[in-house]
Amino acid sequence: MSDRNILVTSALPYANGPIHLGHLVEYIQTDIWVRFQKMRGHQCCYVCADDAHGTPIMLRADREGISPEQLIADVEKQHRADFAEFGVAFDHYHSTHSAENRMLSSLIYQRLRDSGHINSRSITQAYDPVKNMFLPDRFIKGECPKCGAADQYGDNCEACGATYSPMDLKNAVSAISGEKPIEKDSVHYFFNLRHFADMLAGWTKAGHLQPEVSNKMAEWLENGLQEWDISRDAPYFGFEIPDAPGKYFYVWLDAPIGYMASFKALCDKNGLNFDDFWREDSTAELYHFIGKDIIYFHALFWPAMLHGAGFRKPSAIFAHGFLTVNGEKMSKSRGTFIKARTYLEHLHPEYLRYYFAAKLGAGVDDIDLNFEDFTQRVNADLVGKVVNIASRCSGFINKRFDGILSADCAEPELFRQFIDASGPIAELYENREFGKAMREIMALADKANQYIDEKKPWLIAKEEGRDAELNAVCSMGLNLFRLLAAYLRPVLPGLAANAADFLNIGEESWPAQAQPLLNHKINPFTPLMTRIEPDKIAAIIEASRENLEKTPTSPVPTGAGGAKTESAATAAVPVEAIAEAIEIDDFARIDLRIARIIKAQPVEGAEKLLQLTVDLGMETRNIFAGIKSAYAPEDLEGRLTVVVANLKPRKMRFGVSEGMVLAAGPGGKDIWVLSPDEGAQPGMRVK
Ligand code: 2FM
Ligand code: ZN
Repeated sequence: MSDRNILVTSALPYANGPIHLGHLVEYIQTDIWVRFQKMRGHQCCYVCADDAHGTPIMLRADREGISPEQLIADVEKQHRADFAEFGVAFDHYHSTHSAENRMLSSLIYQRLRDSGHINSRSITQAYDPVKNMFLPDRFIKGECPKCGAADQYGDNCEACGATYSPMDLKNAVSAISGEKPIEKDSVHYFFNLRHFADMLAGWTKAGHLQPEVSNKMAEWLENGLQEWDISRDAPYFGFEIPDAPGKYFYVWLDAPIGYMASFKALCDKNGLNFDDFWREDSTAELYHFIGKDIIYFHALFWPAMLHGAGFRKPSAIFAHGFLTVNGEKMSKSRGTFIKARTYLEHLHPEYLRYYFAAKLGAGVDDIDLNFEDFTQRVNADLVGKVVNIASRCSGFINKRFDGILSADCAEPELFRQFIDASGPIAELYENREFGKAMREIMALADKANQYIDEKKPWLIAKEEGRDAELNAVCSMGLNLFRLLAAYLRPVLPGLAANAADFLNIGEESWPAQAQPLLNHKINPFTPLMTRIEPDKIAAIIEASRENLEKTPTSPVPTGAGGAKTESAATAAVPVEAIAEAIEIDDFARIDLRIARIIKAQPVEGAEKLLQLTVDLGMETRNIFAGIKSAYAPEDLEGRLTVVVANLKPRKMRFGVSEGMVLAAGPGGKDIWVLSPDEGAQPGMRVK
């Protein structure tokens, strides 16, 4: 074992959707930290995996007519490709649907059970009688029991914020089949978190968590710990519980064990010793990078599971905030819900790595990707400052000195200042203060540019007899550039590798002891990075706008999948995309009026249409409405409806339609117009 043996993880992305920029905050943050540790010469393993189990994955596979195994294999391929192109270099990438994870999940469960930490009892839950399955909360929709808002998911109301049990929803339906759920009992298995209350009270205060997270934990612990339901009934895509046929481990039970499973697979691949890292008294370090939405699982359940099963607990959990884009939640209609792949089709991944690094700190604050700032900062810092040093100096060295650097260091003191910065910069990287580290590095880049500005090699080059000076100044510039590239290497591995090729040196370790390159032959310079063109950003936004489909987009959790519980985003109900946002003024231009339907008749040759004569108070209109599937003409006469009164008359095949009836509903028999109501009079404006 080396001086430090470190195992690092990022949260496991769900295998039911693509990687987006929200996810990448975490993977880039972790990757930078791991690359830094490796550069420092420590043994550092970075593992991750697809989080492949659970109801949404099972249902999506079902919908696509493929097996869940096929679905997760396809998604894993895309995830791996996205990560690789963003330079996220896992030592091993696995799947929670793996032999190692099955073995470890069973082992941990059995140890917890044998130590008396598992109970079972029967509970009552909503059940879909058509799909023959229990419904997770997010798969039940209905009206809020408190405010009556329609179309609310099973556990909380987006309109009034109330939380409730899904059985309390009014007119509840299954989001999978549309059927009314019934109540059904079944036996569930529970992990008794209360047994670990004392251990957790100590552990959460012992420096393993960021201060703000530790405080949050104290609140949660004060409120008391609940038993955690770790089982789900068949049908479920996951691992069957060893001693409970038909019962499966809940996805969140085997997900964190996936960290161990991925590491186990790495050990089997390269001969590391699994137990050295996981036994109770291990001195190896273990760090989990996660989004702040999944702290509960990692700072309470996970240490308790590990403790109860006789394994070591994490050295620390590093939570980060969510990503916003241009100051707002990521949004499909604004084109700011950007997939990793869409970004890659237009821009270089290292631009984003640098920008995220420049914005990241050690806390849990949200970070904002502002496209103007992004463009400006990448162009000014990386292209304008760092790469510019190399392009200013390399031409003279190659053209005038055959690519050979000066035998003397022109400014040993300046070189020493750059080396002295290695300690503080390293400390910032170590503490995940990447934004501060980037500022230190850019301050050095400013110094290097100042040096070149003062020496003016382009003027020296014009004068006879000053060759040695020209060589010394440009060599000095390149020696400083070399250190900057080394300091940036955890963030910009591609740029650093190209810089090393150009400088004709090998892979750089942390340059705390570096000596200047003297009398050293370099290679011809090729541009290391070009400016971001604003039209590329516009293209990304445009391409993302096309990918419209309904997804809940909070500020997007930057951890793994983006939803902390099983999400209905992938449920089987087809939901049409919401159209582009309009201004309130656009809406105000629509003149909505109450109208009474005074006559309704079928239209010959039209399957869906009825011809309506409506009374608008001051006039009658002829309107064709596609509501024949829901209403017999005689049922409509006398009813009130809402009409768009200022719609320009439209010539249709059957006549002119002088307005539009607003009827709502999913279609078929369920399209509703208003019933007679004494309070509403034809012609009244709807506000
Ligand atoms: O929140 C999520 O997207 C989960 N897939 C994260 C799992 S992390 C770990 F516990 F496996
Ligand atoms: Zn409500």
